[in-house]
Amino acid sequence: MSKFMDWVDARFPATKMWEDHLSKYYAPKNFNFFYFFGSLALLVLVNQIVTGVWLTMSYTPSAEEAFASVEYIMRDVEYGSILRLLHSTGASAFFIVVYLHMFRGLLYGSYQKPRELVWVFGMLIYLALMAEAFMGYLLPWGQMSYWGAQVIISLFGAIPVIGNDLTQWIRGDYLISGITLNRFFALHVVALPIVILGLVVLHVLALHEVGSNNPDGVDIKKHKDENGVPLDGIAFHPYYTVKDIVGVVVFLFIFCSIVFFFPEMGGYFLEKPNFEVANAFKTPEHIAPVWYFTPFYAILRAIPDKLMGVIAMGASIAMLFVLPWLDRSPVKSMRYKGWLSKIWLWVFCICFVILGILGVLAPTPERTLVSQICTFLYFAYFILMPFYTRLEKTKPVPERVTG
Ligand code: HEM
Repeated sequence: MSKFMDWVDARFPATKMWEDHLSKYYAPKNFNFFYFFGSLALLVLVNQIVTGVWLTMSYTPSAEEAFASVEYIMRDVEYGSILRLLHSTGASAFFIVVYLHMFRGLLYGSYQKPRELVWVFGMLIYLALMAEAFMGYLLPWGQMSYWGAQVIISLFGAIPVIGNDLTQWIRGDYLISGITLNRFFALHVVALPIVILGLVVLHVLALHEVGSNNPDGVDIKKHKDENGVPLDGIAFHPYYTVKDIVGVVVFLFIFCSIVFFFPEMGGYFLEKPNFEVANAFKTPEHIAPVWYFTPFYAILRAIPDKLMGVIAMGASIAMLFVLPWLDRSPVKSMRYKGWLSKIWLWVFCICFVILGILGVLAPTPERTLVSQICTFLYFAYFILMPFYTRLEKTKPVPERVTG
């Protein structure tokens, strides 16, 4: 075996990569619950790719047959229903995992210097993931697939001058048709997965270049032993590979319970109108995107003017991109930041959840007012950040990690 590895290593850096990224990658020893979600995101990504490939074997990307082919997968293809529900539940699980993963970044200042690029690559993954989910949702060609896509694509029509041409260019037709379905299929199945995989590699490479942050936000590279190993670091393999298995088992238990017993999740993971085939002549009573888009949808609807709404929705995501340059705090972790940062993080998270709930519901004047207040506070969290992170009194950061 070792002779074989010598032969390989002389031609390909297999052992070097194993050591650099696993057996000699020293991660802080104080990782907590929130550090499970990076590897869980990888797991869900693999689930989506594997189940997606198998679904593609029986799915037909045409307006005439797409809906029926999904029914065929659910009823006649061996293990088809499990494959499909693993994939549809996987989409929601992906966003739950990624939102918790991003929240960890906010909590421990993981986007701060020197991890700005880790964050920016993460945000690019998030954008690509949103596009991937949006296009995948058209493929079953149900009522909500059709009308959801109709609402979102028509938003581009609000852009002055080029708006109308742009929507036609995206659809490839005067209305959403089999042509749109075909191009979304190509992008969902081939182009975007490649982009996401590439970005994940860049994300992890950027992280391993500078090393992981931790719940104390302490730089573990400041204290090393005589071999250059950080005193507060432990080898990723075997310590965290084994620890992550615990997270994977708990995750799979919850995930499989949903796949087997509640795959529709009360209409939140699989929406009710999508059990009816797309019909261009019949608008569903209430059109709402899937839950993971609803905070942004609520921001869009909070603003009466369509163009301004689209701009606000774009800005709400753009703000996250520039976060590393808005936080001026001398400390990383919320543990040592002042109370202003803590309150604002709470406000931001509560507003995000409220917007998510309001985005699912039909608008009323009261709900619109609440979503306007939450939209205001959402932006205030970012815009005021350079001020409150500089003004507040921080606690002293320990030299070494705690706990
Ligand atoms: C497919 C989606 C994603 C995958 C597979 C992924 C994977 C990973 C992995 C394996 C790690 C190292 C383990 C860990 O710290 O949990 C990591 C760290 C990190 N990720 Fe992601 N990630 C994804 C999306 C994102 C997004 C959307 C963001 C934020 C915009 C993000 C921001 C970060 C940050 C800041 C770190 C460093 C955390 C620290 O050291 O404290 N990631 N990611």
